[in-house]
Amino acid sequence: MKQRIIATLLAGLMIAPLAQAMDLKQHHTDAGLECQDCHIDANMTIPSNASCLNCHGSLEDLREAVKQPESQYYLDTNPHYSFHYGYGLECSACHSEHQESKLYCNNCHQFDYPEFK
Ligand code: HEC
Ligand code: HEC
Ligand code: HEC
Ligand code: HEC
Repeated sequence: MKQRIIATLLAGLMIAPLAQAMDLKQHHTDAGLECQDCHIDANMTIPSNASCLNCHGSLEDLREAVKQPESQYYLDTNPHYSFHYGYGLECSACHSEHQESKLYCNNCHQFDYPEFK
């Protein structure tokens, strides 16, 4: 009995990070997306921003959607319009579909965006 409880706990621990890793894909799977919705050119390379923007609105809308709480740098830590890059990053620099999303900024900083997927 005791052993089974420990096994269950361990399984839970292993599933949790996996579930997080699949967050973005789960959104897209639930929405019924197919490969070609993102991979708009037939050769299956990393999708360009154009395919994401087909569904997610303009760069300006995306900037507005992720306004950060007011602080000294809040205007500059908007991930969709940043101090260094403006609108200049590829979506896939941060958002992944087939693996865990990783915030590009955190190669150098330690920002936390709780809603990031
Ligand atoms: C065919 C339309 C479509 C395309 C193309 C698409 N998405 Fe989505 N995306 C959706 C839908 C629908 C959802 C789920 C509903 C929602 O949250 O907006 C979603 C959800 C998301 C979310 C989670 C939103 C949240 O609420 O936190 C992110 C992030 C995202 N998409 C990024 C991307 C990126 C990056 C690309 C390009 C690689 C992309 N999407 C391509 C339709 C699309
Ligand atoms: C520098 C990293 C970065 C890049 C590049 C980036 N995003 Fe995001 N994105 C984030 C973070 C962080 C959040 C969550 C921010 C928050 O909710 O406060 C987010 C949130 C989103 C959301 C959910 C918005 C909502 O309504 O809550 C969508 C959709 C999205 N991104 C799509 C895109 C698309 C499309 C691109 C390319 C045009 C893109 N992102 C480029 C980091 C990035
Ligand atoms: C919501 C958008 C989206 C959908 C749907 C999607 N992909 Fe992707 N795909 C991406 C993104 C973004 C990348 C960049 C790497 C990553 O996110 O893991 C990628 C990378 C890839 C790559 C590697 C490309 C390279 O040059 O490194 C392949 C192969 C691929 N996808 C195949 C598929 C197949 C097959 C499907 C359908 C079963 C699919 N993708 C569905 C967004 C998508
Ligand atoms: C290659 C490393 C690197 C990456 C990636 C990076 N930064 Fe920076 N960032 C720096 C350095 C270096 C400074 C200046 C150091 C300092 O003043 O503390 C800085 C400073 C900043 C500042 C402070 C601006 C000011 O007025 O002093 C903000 C805000 C910022 N970065 C946001 C971001 C955001 C948002 C991203 C992702 C979209 C990002 N950074 C990605 C290296 C980076």
